[in-house]
Amino acid sequence: MNDRIQNTALHAKVMSAAHAAELIPIGAHVGMSGFTGAGYPKAVPQALAARLAALHAAGHTQARIGLWTGASTAPELDGALAKAQGIEMRLPYQSDPTCRQQINAGQMLYTDMHLSHVAQAAWYGFLGPLDVAVVEVVGILPDGRLIPSTSVGNNKTWLDQARQVILEVNLHQNPALAGMHDIYNGTHLPPQRQPIPLTHAGDRIGEPYLQCDPSKVIAVVITDQADRNTAFDAPSDVSNRIAGHLIEFLQHEVKAGRMPAQLLPLQSGVGNTANAVLAGLQSSPFEHLSAYTEVLQDGMLDLLRTGKLAFASATALSLSPTALAEFNANIDFYRQRILLRPQEISNHPELIRRLGVIAMNGMIEADIYGNVNSTHIMGSAIMNGIGGSGDFARNGYLSIFMSASTAKDGKISCIVPMVSHHDHTEHDVQIIVTEQGLADLRGLAPTQRAQLIVERCAHPSFRPQLWDYMDRARHSGAGLHTPHLLDEALSWHSRYLRTGRM
Ligand code: COA
Repeated sequence: MNDRIQNTALHAKVMSAAHAAELIPIGAHVGMSGFTGAGYPKAVPQALAARLAALHAAGHTQARIGLWTGASTAPELDGALAKAQGIEMRLPYQSDPTCRQQINAGQMLYTDMHLSHVAQAAWYGFLGPLDVAVVEVVGILPDGRLIPSTSVGNNKTWLDQARQVILEVNLHQNPALAGMHDIYNGTHLPPQRQPIPLTHAGDRIGEPYLQCDPSKVIAVVITDQADRNTAFDAPSDVSNRIAGHLIEFLQHEVKAGRMPAQLLPLQSGVGNTANAVLAGLQSSPFEHLSAYTEVLQDGMLDLLRTGKLAFASATALSLSPTALAEFNANIDFYRQRILLRPQEISNHPELIRRLGVIAMNGMIEADIYGNVNSTHIMGSAIMNGIGGSGDFARNGYLSIFMSASTAKDGKISCIVPMVSHHDHTEHDVQIIVTEQGLADLRGLAPTQRAQLIVERCAHPSFRPQLWDYMDRARHSGAGLHTPHLLDEALSWHSRYLRTGRM
């Protein structure tokens, strides 16, 4: 314990997770660490879930908390609290099946936010007061500063803003993570803001440790448990083809002199397709790449190991068990090549624009005019959330969205007349890629975009329907800038809901 908790005053605060969970007021807003299944508290949320479940069983059915995090967490946090019916409201991102089910059943409120917006919304008080922060750390230094864990996320903001702090010191996390973080403390609210002094993905602009006022710490809980560490699927034929189109396009951009040979810093979204694109870069001709991204998945680690990727800046690791073992075995190598930053910095519009990031994100569907839905199934049901995709798509140099051209065994076209929910408007979307091909929409008017998207990206089985829609819209007497048949624009979705096929 002394090794990991070097602040001796805090030894007196060491207690069980159950005791710590008792200190969280019912109805509190609780800011927990955690981003993409990394660095989340593992014991206190489960103990809190057990306490809330017991209260529910005793008839206190309104015993719940407001849960704020960096992004998605894991079954021990989101899953446990949701199963206990313990979350009243959730922000800013989740991907947990029980949370999703409760949000879509109207039993849990969900505020789906751009991840770069969360810190300032908390400072301004738009989210209400933050009562307690529960943050996983690797260790506590003698002066109370904290060695961050496998994600940084919103921890700096939660530790600043919360009235009280509970720390989980996870002995399972590698102490050699120390030094891999860059915590910038220079952000302010306007009009006090100053330029953030970062001009390359690898610049260190802050300190390796999180600051925390020890007098706010009400409990320290010791844990010894791995992160979620989900394995990725092997790249499918579809994702390999998407990766192929994308890499060919990037090569073309370099040849055209629009990008340097080492490209611009890469951002890669979450999920299997994004991971497959990174795997595709492994056999590409590009060298000395850099990444300014949110999450470091297996694919990026591979690129770092082989030297294709020179440096990666992110806010979280999200590794499979195999990749994590390799990471831990070679952590000194990776510490020279990775910086984990607060998500307000990893996703900061100023920095993403300055660096000229290549933003590559997954989507659920795009429409013929280039609007993208990343979050909702059939217009109404949440899938995960917008995450950082908007931060990167709006502000990057290149904004790329990718998906298979169909879903659910070909019954759904991912290219539709009108998206059933808008996350990224036509103004923020430059490139759409499916396994069918790539549409470069830069500089095109809506009708030109529609032509290209259907031709290049739609599945052949849905193209005739799309051409027919476009043709009839053009001759309907509607405005010819972005022709639509308003009675029909969402009929593909309602047909799917009615018949099980678009
Ligand atoms: N209509 C209905 N369902 C669809 C669909 C569509 N047009 N397209 C995909 N789906 C379903 C799939 O069938 C799959 O369902 P299942 O889980 O029941 O099998 C699910 O959506 C996920 O699709 P998949 O093809 O596996 O894609 P993915 O893992 O690449 O994820 C997103 C795609 C959009 C869900 C994911 O990228 C995401 O959540 N994005 C938003 C957040 C984000 O971009 N974060 C990164 C910022 S750094």
